[in-house]
Amino acid sequence: MPFYSENITESHLKKTERGYGRAWDVVFDYMLANNGIKKLLEIGVGGGQSHLAWLDLFKDAQIYGLEVAWPILPESMFSWKEMRKEQHDDDIVVRQLVNAIQGWHKFTNRPFDDRLRLHIMYNVNAKREDVMQSMLKAHGNFDVVINDSKHRTHTAQLMSFWRKLVGTDGVYFQEEFCSTMNDDFKVKRYHEFLENNPDDKSYWRVFDFREISIEQPGCSVLGMYTENQGILNAVDESLDNFIIK
Ligand SMILES: C[S@@+](CC[C@H](N)C(=O)[O-])C[C@H]1O[C@@H](n2cnc3c(N)ncnc32)[C@H](O)[C@@H]1O
Repeated sequence: MPFYSENITESHLKKTERGYGRAWDVVFDYMLANNGIKKLLEIGVGGGQSHLAWLDLFKDAQIYGLEVAWPILPESMFSWKEMRKEQHDDDIVVRQLVNAIQGWHKFTNRPFDDRLRLHIMYNVNAKREDVMQSMLKAHGNFDVVINDSKHRTHTAQLMSFWRKLVGTDGVYFQEEFCSTMNDDFKVKRYHEFLENNPDDKSYWRVFDFREISIEQPGCSVLGMYTENQGILNAVDESLDNFIIK
C-alpha cells in the first residue's frame, strides 16, 4: 500500500476523491525512498485541513503555509476596507478571514512539538514573486510545493514562478490546473501555457482525474512540475493513462 493512501487522515479524503492521491502515492513513495521529504509548502491555508494532514503524514518534515487572509477580524468595516485597500490587490472576503480564524484555532490546539514544525504565515500575497525569492533565500529549496490558492484559469501562468523554489530535485503541484470551480479545465489553456513556457515543457505533467473524481470532477486536474528525472519516470510508468499529452 503506498504511503500517502495508507496514512492519510480523514480530513484529507476530499483530495483523494478528486484523484490527486493517485499522483501523490507515486511521487511521495519515490521521494521517501530517495532523498526524503523534509520541507513542504502549501500555498493557501484556509481552514488548515491540508496543513494538519501534512503535519501528521510527514513526521520529520517542516510544514509551511502562506495565506493572503489573516485570523483577526477588523474592529469596523471602515478599517476593514482600509486594510484591504492597502495590503493586497486580491479580494479578501469575510469568509476567508473566518476560515483563517478557524484554522488558527486548530493549529494552536496542536501539541507544542507539532507546532514547532508548523510555519503558517498570514497576510502574504503569494502572487508576488519576491515572496518566493525571500523564502528561497531564507530556507533554500523545498522538497514539495503545492499551490492550492486562487483557482483561476490563469493561475498556472501567474504562479508558475513558485516552481523555482523546488530546485532540481523537488516537485511543484498546481491543484485545479487551468480551471476554476465554475469554469472546468480546458486542454487548450494547458497548450497555451506550454507555448508561453517552451523551456519547461519536458518538466510538466498534467494529470486528468476528471473521470475518476467524485468531488468537483470538472476541475480535478493536477499540474506537476519537476526536473527530477526519477519522479518523471515513476509517474510516466504508473500514471500514463491520466497524463494529458
Ligand atoms: C481552497 S482554499 C485552501 C484550502 C487548503 N489548502 C486545504 O486544502 O485545506 C484557498 C485559500 O487560498 C487563499 N488565497 C487566495 N489567493 C491567495 C494569494 N494570492 N496568496 C495567498 N493565499 C491566497 C484563500 O484565502 C483561501 O484561504
